Amino acid sequence: MKVVESVADLAAERQARGAGETGFVPTMGALHEAHVSLIRRSQAENARTWVSIFVNPAQFNDPGDLASYPRPLEEDLEILRAAGCDLVFMPRAREIYPDGYRYRVIENNLSLQFCGAGRPGHFDGVLTVVLKLLLLVRPDRAYFGEKDYQQLRLVEGLAETFFLETKIVRSPLVREPDGLAMSSRNRLLSAAERKRAPGFHRLLERSVEKLQSTAEAADELKREGFDVEYVADYEGRRLAAVRLGKVRLIDNVE
Ligand code: PAJ
Repeated sequence: MKVVESVADLAAERQARGAGETGFVPTMGALHEAHVSLIRRSQAENARTWVSIFVNPAQFNDPGDLASYPRPLEEDLEILRAAGCDLVFMPRAREIYPDGYRYRVIENNLSLQFCGAGRPGHFDGVLTVVLKLLLLVRPDRAYFGEKDYQQLRLVEGLAETFFLETKIVRSPLVREPDGLAMSSRNRLLSAAERKRAPGFHRLLERSVEKLQSTAEAADELKREGFDVEYVADYEGRRLAAVRLGKVRLIDNVE
């Protein structure tokens, strides 16, 4: 597995790559089985798979969240090697934002709702870094998980709007055996919080089965001790974000 840290080296690798299609999985590291499922999917559909690890400062509106975001680098590289990833790109923020983030992608509708309402600028940061990474890597396909459903829809819109030649591929949400959606932030939960966390998905799913309104679902979650940011129905899915202690969890069910 090649480890590439500079934009110039990545460009050289891109120019030197031979025939066959390239699949790309952008991540912020702290890799888990859901990330690996995206990598496997890419490997099945492409000649080579490139992954990026970049904890993108532009998408963190809370400096504490950026500081506490897990960065188990050696573990991540081991997971990528074991998965058979061909190249990992780990750029520095200075190189990704030579302009100090003066230039950015702004979306004016979906990005302001749901997860965007409580995190101003978050999705602009996501869209800006995804555009940069797609322009650097120029993959045939890029893989995004349905766990971050709003992000996925915004990235699909980005690719269409800017006539990108990369196909955006959706990958299903991967859960722990107890139902908790896998997430890099799960490792920040205390043991007691981790025990309560699956209740989030359980209640969300039950609210859909029982045909409860989003307001009723939010009330049930509050009763169970979750600090509810929002519950909303969108494109046939129920999306929600809650806080459990200091950790923000998101989930969605069809
Ligand atoms: P990150 O949270 O590391 O997620 C990387 C990719 O893995 C995203 O496409 C995300 O939807 C997917 N993913 C994470 N947990 C998942 C789960 N439980 N099931 C299915 N897919 C899952 O999302 C980001 O990073 C960043 O915003 C990024 C797109 C890299 C831009 O910085």
